[in-house]
Amino acid sequence: MARETADTDVELDLDQAAGPAIDLTRLYKLWEGGNWSAFAIDLSQDAVDWREKLSPKQREASRWNYSMFVHGEEAVARTLAPFVTAALTQEQRIFLTTQIVDEARHHVFFDRFMREVMGEGNSYGEVLEAVRPELTPGFRRVFGELDRLTDQLRRQPSNRPLYAQCIALYHIVVEGTLAHPGQRFMLDYMSQFDVLPGFREGIAHIARDESRHMAFGVQTLGELVAESPLIRRAVIRLLNRALPWAVGVLTPPRLDFDYLRVFDINIEDLYAFSLKSLETKLTRAGIQPSEVVALVKLGVSDPPSAQAARTLALMRAGMVSDAVPLDVSEDSMTLLFEALERVAAAAPPSSLPGPIQWEFSDAEPWYLAIERGAATVRRGRVANPALTLRSTALDWARVATERLDPRWAMATRRLSVSGDWRLALRLPALLGA
Ligand SMILES: [Fe+2]
Ligand SMILES: [Fe+2]
Repeated sequence: MARETADTDVELDLDQAAGPAIDLTRLYKLWEGGNWSAFAIDLSQDAVDWREKLSPKQREASRWNYSMFVHGEEAVARTLAPFVTAALTQEQRIFLTTQIVDEARHHVFFDRFMREVMGEGNSYGEVLEAVRPELTPGFRRVFGELDRLTDQLRRQPSNRPLYAQCIALYHIVVEGTLAHPGQRFMLDYMSQFDVLPGFREGIAHIARDESRHMAFGVQTLGELVAESPLIRRAVIRLLNRALPWAVGVLTPPRLDFDYLRVFDINIEDLYAFSLKSLETKLTRAGIQPSEVVALVKLGVSDPPSAQAARTLALMRAGMVSDAVPLDVSEDSMTLLFEALERVAAAAPPSSLPGPIQWEFSDAEPWYLAIERGAATVRRGRVANPALTLRSTALDWARVATERLDPRWAMATRRLSVSGDWRLALRLPALLGA
């Protein structure tokens, strides 16, 4: 259940789909016992390793990756205060105050590494500015949303669906899906390459702190989701919006995967670890991953490695995250329609009263029909479609990936719809668009 090296030196293991309820007072005690000093860690050998042991490409890759960590820690330290006001119990409030201290200490530690080992500036502000250009579009989207939602929570502290959305974004997406895998892979390569001993020591402390934060998130989100269907729907809506951006956070510049390969990291392994971490935490919070359309599109009943391979293929086609422009080649359209088939297959068959035909002015047509009781997509034309959609392939790809509002597309005649209008109105829900 937990890797415990001493009573208080604990990294909680939340990467299992089941586990006992989490006691916030125990988390508080672990925090008291596990306090550490960001300034006491010796970084002198790290400075030597940085110059002498790391290759230029490894330094470039590290700068890119650690820039997102220093900005990420600064952002989570800055945006957590509204949670304290919104907390529903004194136990939650006390735990959250410990977490603010942790996040500030994490920022201090990454900042020290950047100044003393990497030579990136002389103040917190200077370091953040120096490395800001490294932030990926996915990072900017996810943390922009964190700023927006937590600012809303500051103004509406008693809005429970909003509090639940903030926890889902902060503790489950940012910490559970992005930071946790990042730290795990960093710890692995630093010991494999035997480099940066001080940094490794600090990251191990941070990983233990983060395991308490994620435990708080899983427990509190579970309690909120169990409270009302409204809260549950709000959380699922947030996940569907934020998860496609999250895919792009660790997408290297120009899709140059050498940024990860120089540390022996395979991008599919990283995605698979992230997806497993996300899906186990959601399950423990009482949300089945199959309720989240963004995950259904990846084939949520398959093993994380298969989901990771699909994520990577969709990402390369520009169909999740903004890392690369949308591609509408035949292969990419096949990926898009296969994702659509998985979403339609998860909906009750009664929600699809007849086949849907797509006619593209610049690409092969596609259709969706129920065949032998299962939703199926195929290239070509179907007899007697209940609904026909007409557009360019690119405009449909934009609609399906939520870059183009279907109502706006229709109003501007980029998308035309004929046939059963009741089905047309249900289309976004049916297709997860
Ligand atoms: Fe942190
Ligand atoms: Fe954290």
